[in-house]
Amino acid sequence: MVLSTANYRKLARRITAETGIQLPEGKRMMVSGRLQRRTRALGLNSIEEYCELVLSEGAKAQDRTDLIDAVTTNTTEFFREPEHFDLLRQKILPEWRQRSGPGDRMTLWSAACSSGQEPYTLAMVLAEFGAALPGFCYRILATDISKTALQKARSGIYERRQTERMPRELRSKYLLQAKDTPLVRIVPELRRQVVFHPLNLMDTDYPLAEPFDVIFCRNVFIYFDRPTQAAVAAKLCRYLRPGGYLFIGHSESLVDNQLPLVSIGRSCYLRIAEE
Ligand SMILES: C[S@@+](CC[C@H](N)C(=O)[O-])C[C@H]1O[C@@H](n2cnc3c(N)ncnc32)[C@H](O)[C@@H]1O
Repeated sequence: MVLSTANYRKLARRITAETGIQLPEGKRMMVSGRLQRRTRALGLNSIEEYCELVLSEGAKAQDRTDLIDAVTTNTTEFFREPEHFDLLRQKILPEWRQRSGPGDRMTLWSAACSSGQEPYTLAMVLAEFGAALPGFCYRILATDISKTALQKARSGIYERRQTERMPRELRSKYLLQAKDTPLVRIVPELRRQVVFHPLNLMDTDYPLAEPFDVIFCRNVFIYFDRPTQAAVAAKLCRYLRPGGYLFIGHSESLVDNQLPLVSIGRSCYLRIAEE
């Protein structure tokens, strides 16, 4: 069953207004397939009925969560786009160390963290850096709009095959491997370094107190149109300290010259001070 054109358009308009995610006609089949599963789970007769339910005033919080899950793509992996982690290791962390004082804490934000592989990769890179540097402190905030993805992220449990891109020595250091199960879990010392919270990048303001040294906001701009990309990037800049770095996905680009950002490498930008 494919959602009718009228209902699909209504749904797409609502989704785009709330999440920024563009749902062109080409995605109607994919979205319908996902809604079909929810329709069956709720025991409803048709996806049209489901669509009307989630768009109605009476929709429950869980219906909204399910809808977000139905339209978000949570694809991610450990050490995805590995050049970014090299840049962090080789340039950004040594630079930060040079200009930091005693007691300073490095702050990082993974702003569309999906099921957690990106912030845990960051935690591994930082833990490795800190191992040779007594007193090195860092904190990682990881946010996403999808509550289901965040739930998985908080658990820190993954299938072993999902961790195959991780260097072997990091796997043995940072993963708990139970025998006779296909699952592994991130060690508690690393899980404690990452704080997960729901956050919609479309919100006017983000409830964040401190500016960050590094923001990863990768592979989410592709779902937004150009004006939304520019608006979100401008907001991210407000939470990035001058001298800090913003990473976006390899297939993404920021073309707005008004932003206080200078490109310094593949999909990485330095935040400059505004005049
Ligand atoms: C493809 S994943 C990218 C995950 C990770 N950053 C990476 O590069 O591997 C895109 C994520 O963006 C999230 N997302 C989409 N729209 C969002 C929004 N408006 N606010 C926050 N997160 C959003 C989705 O839930 C999804 O988990």
